[in-house]
Amino acid sequence: MTRLLRFGVSLEKELLLKFDRLNEEKNYTNRSEAIRDLIRQELVKKQWQGDKEIAGAITFIYDHHRRELLNKITDVQHDFQKVIISTQHIHLDHNNCLEIIAIRGNPKDAQKLQDSLKAIKGVKHTTLSMSSTGKEID
Ligand code: NI
Repeated sequence: MTRLLRFGVSLEKELLLKFDRLNEEKNYTNRSEAIRDLIRQELVKKQWQGDKEIAGAITFIYDHHRRELLNKITDVQHDFQKVIISTQHIHLDHNNCLEIIAIRGNPKDAQKLQDSLKAIKGVKHTTLSMSSTGKEID
């Protein structure tokens, strides 16, 4: 079991008040939990800047009626199959499709995959959710 350590933090009163207000808005029950999340956020950010294995998701929206688009999207996904765990396709309405790609692997490959999808004409919007495998952040 992980041992808990206590440490003191000195900061300006105004900054601490802002921190407390922010934590209240975000429903944190105490400062420790908020600080833990901030630290993990920085650790995950560092993982994405380096070469460590990451996990996350790419979400994108595209025009369903552009047939040539479907082939291009499939080609790109085959090129990046080593970083793709699974994909989910949702028919949003008559014209629009939403696809979610779960990813795990090298952060640079994940970023390249998003860039390749974004560059396809007819892909309206993409997001990259940069998360973690859960390792090395606790
Ligand atoms: Ni569809």
